Amino acid sequence: MLKLAFIGVGYVGLVTGTCMAELGMEVTCIDISKDKIDKLNLGIIPIYELGLEELVLKNLKSNRLSFTTDMKSVVEECDVIFITVGTPQGSDGSADLSYVEQAVVEIAKYMNRYKVIVDKSTVPVGTGEMVKSKIEAELKARGVEYDFDVVSNPEFLREGTAIGDFMNPDRIILGVESKRSAEVMKKIYEKVLIKGVPLLLTNLETAELIKYSANAFLASKISYINELTELCESIGADIRAVSKGIGMDKRIGSAFLNAGPGYGGSCFPKDTAALIKISDAAGCKLSIVDAVIRANAKQKERMFKKITKAFGDISNKVIAVLGVTFKADTDDIRESPAVSLINNLLNSGARLRVYDPGISELVFINNEESRNNLYICNNEYEAAEGAEALVIATEWSQFKKLDLKAIKHKMTNTWFFDLRNLYSPVEVTKAGLNYIGNGRNNIVSIIYTITKDGKEDYEVI
Ligand code: UDX
Repeated sequence: MLKLAFIGVGYVGLVTGTCMAELGMEVTCIDISKDKIDKLNLGIIPIYELGLEELVLKNLKSNRLSFTTDMKSVVEECDVIFITVGTPQGSDGSADLSYVEQAVVEIAKYMNRYKVIVDKSTVPVGTGEMVKSKIEAELKARGVEYDFDVVSNPEFLREGTAIGDFMNPDRIILGVESKRSAEVMKKIYEKVLIKGVPLLLTNLETAELIKYSANAFLASKISYINELTELCESIGADIRAVSKGIGMDKRIGSAFLNAGPGYGGSCFPKDTAALIKISDAAGCKLSIVDAVIRANAKQKERMFKKITKAFGDISNKVIAVLGVTFKADTDDIRESPAVSLINNLLNSGARLRVYDPGISELVFINNEESRNNLYICNNEYEAAEGAEALVIATEWSQFKKLDLKAIKHKMTNTWFFDLRNLYSPVEVTKAGLNYIGNGRNNIVSIIYTITKDGKEDYEVI
């Protein structure tokens, strides 16, 4: 049986390694952090991801999954080595490859026979070639010769649904340079491919570009719909119906057309910036991706202005903020639009009562005055206590089911800012609150269908 190694036990390494073990493979995950590895061996998981803890424990118990800091023995024993280290955004926007380079040097140092080295981290186009030449140079310096292949296998895991995304992907992308490595990779993914999942085999550069292009395209969809929110507000249209109306066209598709306060997370902001760097370096200007990034920054800023414009001077006003994470079902606040909103509100002197089911403290607030103006609450109703305005910034499902009358009762004023459009304006207004959505007016739209058995059906949006 093939033995797999994952270098870098971050989000991608841990989820992918665990899922590979679940598929029946023998997997070892390596990290330089001894503390992290010790905890993982005890079944203590460093991130929050639905269903992950259960899978880690199950596969640890069956000995298909193990964690170590011992690079030498793992590289020597394993047939396929996945690089899953972080590629953070460097100060100039390009991806910082220093962790990838370190991993490659270690692999070459201990290589003892044919290995397949798989880039799973999101890396700039050309990294596969760089990995290849670095390994060749290291082997030469060691005075040894071993066959090896480099493969690009980008991941498309969404936080919160990563295990499902791994087990049932829309496609698997492989950049390969030899039949031998393609066969090894097909074997690894056999149990997924057998479900009918298509495998796209191409060269290294194309596979690397597919990852960036996919993320930039999804970010474009979001920025496009977000940019229309302002227009909807000015001309008396409703963004939710616009989204539905265009998304029902199969050529467009309805996914990633939910208007919101801007996209965030560890991928879209970083990958769009990196794609601009890649294209600049190649001398090809990507004006659409450039506009997507600017539209996202504008949307984040617009959310803050929306509150100050409607509500007036916010200094010393108590505002409840529901949601800190960049999206629901995660504890990740990286590039979260809610975080930039919270910072803007605090900098303007507002007093915040914040609640997020995935967050117990706001470590990013380091200024004393802001800290004093911030109170972390245990639930939505506690956050609404004494607040003049309530802002929904993240779409946690529990925020969709608020007892609006109870919220109104707790508040001292009636401003209800629904930045994720979770509520119907009519419903909120009925509860005595002053509804301000994102790209909405007081419009009720209806989807009318005739069902197969001839009955009429109405969906209110
Ligand atoms: C993304 C990609 O989806 C995944 O394939 C890739 O490998 C990693 O990056 P993730 O960052 O976990 O995954 O989150 P995703 O669900 O894609 O959402 C990203 C951001 O877009 C969030 O801030 C989310 O709130 C926002 N978003 C998403 C919208 O504002 N509207 C939408 O319709 C969809």
